[in-house]
Amino acid sequence: MNVLVIGASRGIGLEFVRQYRAAGDAVSATARDDAGLERLRAIGAAALRLDVTADDCAAALAAQLGDAAFDIVVVNAGVYGPKTDGLQAPAADEFDRVMHTNVLGPMRVLAPVAGALARTGARIAVMSSRMGSIGLRAGANGWLYRASKAALNSVLKDASTALAGRATCVALHPGWVRTDMGGAQADLDVERSVADLRRVLARLGPGDNGRFLDHDGTEIAW
Ligand SMILES: NC(=O)c1ccc[n+]([C@@H]2O[C@H](COP(=O)([O-])OP(=O)(O)OC[C@H]3O[C@@H](n4cnc5c(N)ncnc54)[C@H](OP(=O)(O)O)[C@@H]3O)[C@@H](O)[C@H]2O)c1
Repeated sequence: MNVLVIGASRGIGLEFVRQYRAAGDAVSATARDDAGLERLRAIGAAALRLDVTADDCAAALAAQLGDAAFDIVVVNAGVYGPKTDGLQAPAADEFDRVMHTNVLGPMRVLAPVAGALARTGARIAVMSSRMGSIGLRAGANGWLYRASKAALNSVLKDASTALAGRATCVALHPGWVRTDMGGAQADLDVERSVADLRRVLARLGPGDNGRFLDHDGTEIAW
């Protein structure tokens, strides 16, 4: 298989690259600094430089992808932003950083990704979060992050409609994972989360287009 991971310098993205490489897949992956690019090369990935908040990121990605054709694309880059627990309004620059990374970035990269898909069986996943679910909402902590992932889910749903018949598009929740973002108290180690997510991706068919799935494959309410 030919796999692309966007936002793979560390955490869940880097683990996707490790596991797909270990399974013998060809992997292209992005990072935005030299250290991240070097980590990707060291595990045999084609390393592409990309910051999803850069105004020219769509063109930069398209130029680096060339005529590649991916079976699986994981749009993983994300930030949490302010750790609020109530209705504290975010500063404008924090709002922009979170929304630009988690929403505008995917909106920009989805078009070049759509132009670089395998002709049959292509799958695109955006790394969402259960915290973005409005149906399951039971707390207001991290409300900017929640708003960004709810918006990302809307973006994914539109992508699933626009790309129906060309790719199966899903929003995934990786669980609460021990990474820089998830912290040391999280439920899952990154190896387990990504192994689960790879299993979910492997089983996807056209009938799954536009779904929001947990790492164990169960449906999450929008
Ligand atoms: N960990 C969890 O419990 C959890 C739960 C639900 C959802 N998620 C989602 O899963 C995804 C990965 O999370 P993680 O836990 O692995 O987080 P992480 O350890 O903080 O890693 C975040 C990744 O996103 C990249 N990134 C951030 N801003 C970027 C930008 N402007 N352009 C390109 N790449 C950028 C980072 O690259 P740099 O190294 O350059 O910063 C890094 O590779 C995120 O979308 C997150 O919201 C995580």
